[in-house]
Amino acid sequence: MIIHMNLKNYDFIKTSDGSLTAFSKLYNETCHSQAGAETETLTYYIKGCQVEEKSKLSAIKILEVGFGTGMGFELTLRTLQKNKAFFTFISVEIDKDLVEYWVQKNKSLGKFEFIDNYYKLITKEFELYIIIGDARETLSTFQKSKNFKFNCIYQDAFSPKRNSILWTKEWFDELFSYSNKDCIMSTYSASSSIRKSMVAAGWSLYSGDQFGKKRSSTLAKTHGESDEDILSHLQKSPVGMITDENYKQYVMDEK
Ligand SMILES: C[S@@+](CC[C@H](N)C(=O)[O-])C[C@H]1O[C@@H](n2cnc3c(N)ncnc32)[C@H](O)[C@@H]1O
Repeated sequence: MIIHMNLKNYDFIKTSDGSLTAFSKLYNETCHSQAGAETETLTYYIKGCQVEEKSKLSAIKILEVGFGTGMGFELTLRTLQKNKAFFTFISVEIDKDLVEYWVQKNKSLGKFEFIDNYYKLITKEFELYIIIGDARETLSTFQKSKNFKFNCIYQDAFSPKRNSILWTKEWFDELFSYSNKDCIMSTYSASSSIRKSMVAAGWSLYSGDQFGKKRSSTLAKTHGESDEDILSHLQKSPVGMITDENYKQYVMDEK
């Protein structure tokens, strides 16, 4: 079912678990799996990054790559509200319209401030920053003043084929430099190219849960040793990693 909204580049689509996702006419892709936007977010990000477990140890800091519909934040809030666990959530989003649409819809959360290029909202339950613009430029500037060390990263850009600039070795280098030593980065992609980019940037890789049509997903940690099966598969794979030099020519391997 397609629902036309007041956003010129998006239609909203009902997914199989009843939750909505946005279809981007710019990237020709939906923000979530049609097998269930909410279930996918809970599986890959809330469970994959061990959000609940980590929040019992400290006030966690989460980075989300791609704010999209705001579902990553909303489900994090719903999960951590139960435990009364304060958290900091930073999200990056290139599309200003999407962010403003969400902020308008969620004014009841509190008083949003707009500073430079980001929305900020601080409540008793969370601290939220939504940075507008190309993450490859905005995040490093933001981090120069904040220097957050993230416990969890939701790597939720559009697919490597359509959004390859957010899957390069250099991008994963940057994310590694903002990570706390217990950080888990989770993503829905299990492509060998993106895994090679992550390994080259120093991340240790593990298989994440399967969801929808995907056979596997990827968990990347700043600590530990990569799963040997993943490394041996990568060694045999003919595809190369994605870099800032070659990302324009990148065509997704089917794994
Ligand atoms: C898969 S969607 C994110 C879904 C989102 N996490 C949610 O829960 O709805 C990917 C998002 O990344 C954004 N994006 C793409 N390229 C970007 C860039 N260079 N910088 C920041 N955001 C980008 C897209 O506009 C899109 O909203």
